[in-house]
Amino acid sequence: MRIGVFCSGGDAPGMNPCVRAVVRTAVGAGHEVVGILRGYEGILNEDFYINKEGRVPMTLRSVSDLSRMGGTILHSRRSDRFRTEEGQKTAAANLRKHGIDALIPIGGDGTFHGAVDLARHWDGQIVGCPGTIDNDLLGTDFTIGFATAVHTAVEAIDKLRDTAQSHERMFVVEVMGRHSGYIGLYTALAGGAEVACVPETVTDIKKIVEHLHVLKDRGKESVMMIVSEGVAVGGAELMNKNLIEAGCPFQTRVLTLGHLQRGGSPVPADRILATELGEFAVRSIIDGHTGVMAGRIYRDLGLTEFVRTYATHKPVPDELVRLLDTMAH
Ligand code: F6P
Repeated sequence: MRIGVFCSGGDAPGMNPCVRAVVRTAVGAGHEVVGILRGYEGILNEDFYINKEGRVPMTLRSVSDLSRMGGTILHSRRSDRFRTEEGQKTAAANLRKHGIDALIPIGGDGTFHGAVDLARHWDGQIVGCPGTIDNDLLGTDFTIGFATAVHTAVEAIDKLRDTAQSHERMFVVEVMGRHSGYIGLYTALAGGAEVACVPETVTDIKKIVEHLHVLKDRGKESVMMIVSEGVAVGGAELMNKNLIEAGCPFQTRVLTLGHLQRGGSPVPADRILATELGEFAVRSIIDGHTGVMAGRIYRDLGLTEFVRTYATHKPVPDELVRLLDTMAH
């Protein structure tokens, strides 16, 4: 078989180890792997990874040392051209032209929407791997990149706490996650934040300010507030403005962590998840599956239809929201 692998959408730490697992598994089983550069845009442009011998197939050596590397050697893109039916038909024709039998896209909901669109025009197999820091896909407990993004955010929070404590200040820190509160909630819990505003819960500025007064009266010297980018009230800047207007008792500073959360060497949990899912995606293709995402739920690897991975919002765990409330004193 000739299997195409590519990364699409926002990059995530762990995409590289996932590509490595795909190549090592497929080549080890006697198949050929073509690395497609820049996501769906690369299929349209017939843009392929070239190995050290100047040829297209990825070799066992093409993926040496990728376990520890952030970003993706295949580059990632969002493609406007591929969103059109015309683009999807061209992509299908290019895949046929290059004799590609199966695809392994590594990405998030946009990537899997794309896979569903492509399958209307192309009859090859598609088995995806969940690569996004947002952890917003159903069909897997965690997505590749989430653990590293949280690790990076917590490291930042720990550092901010030092300066916050010195100056007896409050930091309002915005984390990524698009419409999901996963990064926000996990960062807040691990970083010992006193307040977290995530899209899944109601943000009541008046109540937050009352809580801050209680904390100040109890002798709290510094406060960390984590705000997910997707909260209805708006991002950290707007949140800070609203807090000040409502009588926030602490002097505040605002920080948006932004794309910092997408970089860096993947933490071991992401390396292992990426390796398991990359290998499982190849095995699933060999077993004849298509139209599905490889995921891990607790210890079990499983396949979920693409449409089901993004059909509904993946809620943050209620028990963790309660736990944060209990700790935030
Ligand atoms: O989906 C990953 C993500 O980092 C989101 O958390 C964020 O909303 C978005 O991508 C940012 O995208 P861009 O790279 O286009 O700025």
